[in-house]
Amino acid sequence: MAKVHRSNIGLSLLLSLFLCNFIIRLEASHQDLNQPYRTGYHFQPPSNWMNDPNGPMIYKGIYHLFYQYNPYGAVWDVRIVWGHSTSLDLINWTPQPPAFNPSQPSDINGCWSGSVTILPNGKPVILYTGIDKNKSQVQNIAVPVNISDPYLREWSKSSRNPLMAPNGVNGINPDRFRDPTTAWLGRDGEWRVIIGSSTEDRRGLAVLYKSRDFFNWTQSTKPLHYEDLTGMWECPDFFPVAITGSNGVETSSFGENNDIKHVLKVSLIETLHDYYTIGSYDRENDVYVPDLGFVQNGSAPRLDYGKFYASKTFYDDVKKRRILWGWVNESSPAKDDIKKGWSGLQSFPRKIWLEESGKQLLQWPIEEIETLRGRQVNWHNKVLKVGTKLQVHGITAAQADVEVSFKVKELEKADVIEPSWTDPEKICSQDNLSVKSGLGPFGLMVLASSGMEEYTSVYFRIFKSNDTNKNTKYLVLMCSDQSRSSLNDENDKRTFGAFVAIDPSHQTLSLRTLIDHSIVESYGGGGRVCITSRVYPTLAIGENAKLFAFNKGTQSVDVLSLSAWSLKSALINDESMSPFIECEDSHSLIQS
Ligand SMILES: *[C@@H]1O[C@H](CO)[C@@H](O)[C@H](O)[C@H]1NC(C)=O
Ligand SMILES: *[C@@H]1O[C@H](CO)[C@@H](O)[C@H](O)[C@H]1NC(C)=O
Ligand SMILES: *[C@@H]1O[C@H](CO)[C@@H](O)[C@H](O)[C@H]1NC(C)=O
Ligand SMILES: *[C@@H]1O[C@H](CO)[C@@H](O)[C@H](O)[C@H]1NC(C)=O
Ligand SMILES: *[C@@H]1O[C@H](CO)[C@@H](O)[C@H](O)[C@H]1NC(C)=O
Ligand SMILES: *[C@@H]1O[C@H](CO)[C@@H](O)[C@H](O)[C@H]1NC(C)=O
Ligand SMILES: *[C@@H]1O[C@H](CO)[C@@H](O)[C@H](O)[C@H]1NC(C)=O
Repeated sequence: MAKVHRSNIGLSLLLSLFLCNFIIRLEASHQDLNQPYRTGYHFQPPSNWMNDPNGPMIYKGIYHLFYQYNPYGAVWDVRIVWGHSTSLDLINWTPQPPAFNPSQPSDINGCWSGSVTILPNGKPVILYTGIDKNKSQVQNIAVPVNISDPYLREWSKSSRNPLMAPNGVNGINPDRFRDPTTAWLGRDGEWRVIIGSSTEDRRGLAVLYKSRDFFNWTQSTKPLHYEDLTGMWECPDFFPVAITGSNGVETSSFGENNDIKHVLKVSLIETLHDYYTIGSYDRENDVYVPDLGFVQNGSAPRLDYGKFYASKTFYDDVKKRRILWGWVNESSPAKDDIKKGWSGLQSFPRKIWLEESGKQLLQWPIEEIETLRGRQVNWHNKVLKVGTKLQVHGITAAQADVEVSFKVKELEKADVIEPSWTDPEKICSQDNLSVKSGLGPFGLMVLASSGMEEYTSVYFRIFKSNDTNKNTKYLVLMCSDQSRSSLNDENDKRTFGAFVAIDPSHQTLSLRTLIDHSIVESYGGGGRVCITSRVYPTLAIGENAKLFAFNKGTQSVDVLSLSAWSLKSALINDESMSPFIECEDSHSLIQS
């Protein structure tokens, strides 16, 4: 259950009813001064620890999100359960009772990550990793008890669990065998699913299993894909993307006339980042072949260059799009998480599709965000002279959506990049805002305090490349710098960075940033690069937070347009909304 108030055990009925009302009122308020880091429109449970998104889906018009949830506190615990919430719009979420808890020999030590597959008869099933009696990782199935219930409130585990156990084939070890993907159906009528794994000598594996009936699974002798020296592959995701257009493709789709490619995403435990490659699925041999030049390791492109891990997509067959969720961890010490009583957010849901070039994925906040938009501020053709910092007035800068496009005229004046500067994160960290290099820095300062004691800067630098083999003369660097984000030095304030593959000589350089109290989610170059940061300002809180556009570079920069919106708070897992966790329930919890 979402919340057990242990300190209240043994209180009288009267008092517990009173407490129940009190708790509900407290949580309905997003302006709680003791909770400056709770978000207004990012998914989070009312309290406690959350990590990976699990089994996202749409069923009978209702969106479902499950998540790794520790009901006992604000730090991770092995005995994790499947939290569950439902939504009509992916914005407002109603809490449901956890889908399942550790209960069988095959998951008694934890219900870890997994995915939903919608069977051809429309029935959803969950494959998830259980930690069994022997602390071995195994794969289990759970099915809805009542498929007429669009909220899928009750799930039942099969007595045939576990369906897959580590068997030594491919050198799989019981500690490295987890996170089943959504399964897909071959023309031969057999289901396929991959499980993340690695061998003793750090070969990362997408282990392939096949089944006719979804219960009796046989491991293929060959994995779907592997890569040496990459370590454990967590939370693999394998899905088709359309070669043209931004529509999503159903996971089992074969496409027509080679109009799809496939994407393999893995979460590398050794770096805690999500990497993807684009390639082809060879159905003859049941192997995935990345396109030339893509290597499925730490040099592959990332879904996000900040805090973002264990992500998962699903196909929304109503709006014909594929949607990505990712876990956004805290950057604060565990003691602070315990004090605030919660840890972990989900990224704002992102539509994801293949760029025209076929060389990278694009991501963009789902359009439903517009339903939260309130006051709007617009700028057109404003010049940001060298050394200027202009405040964007009139919106709630701590809870906002900002979109800006820049134009830089005298590109040829950009510095040539040092040949040794190949690591964008390193350039962003060594050349902070006080350093003019490349043509920049220019961009946004968000969650800024009035005296600029605190701010988070998201900005660009443009360099000239002297590599004549590159098809563009310029390199665009995007940074998200947290070094001044908080006066509290105990937080992880590492700077993030990435190169944005656009040509600023004929493409507009755009930046969209979603600001939500303690999270800053930025989309550079129309969604080519995403960087998510967690920040914990002590002064730039609520009404005291400010937003600026700045240029500290060497050339003036034109803001072709800037639109900024105040965003309203969504109703996210507010217990007072739940028809299922009522006073009676709280009472029995408190009494138990
Ligand atoms: C645990 O290990 C024992 C001994 O190796 C084995 O007999 C048993 O089946 C295992 N239990 C589970 C739940 O896998
Ligand atoms: C199944 O769900 C439907 C729709 O919510 C409900 O009308 C029905 O009573 C449920 N059946 C059972 C056995 O609970
Ligand atoms: C499970 O599937 C395998 C491979 O198709 C088959 O050989 C085996 O007989 C099946 N087992 C059961 C219990 O159905
Ligand atoms: C990825 O693999 C390529 C090709 O084997 C190798 O050159 C590169 O160093 C690897 N990068 C990382 C970060 O592992
Ligand atoms: C989560 O954040 C904490 C605090 O910064 C860090 O110690 C931990 O390694 C992070 N874990 C993951 C999986 O990102
Ligand atoms: C690129 O620039 C560096 C100095 O910044 C220089 O040493 C190098 O020779 C240049 N390379 C080419 C191909 O012009
Ligand atoms: C930039 O880094 C230098 C050296 O670490 C430091 O003294 C300076 O305060 C930093 N400036 C900003 C704006 O962060």
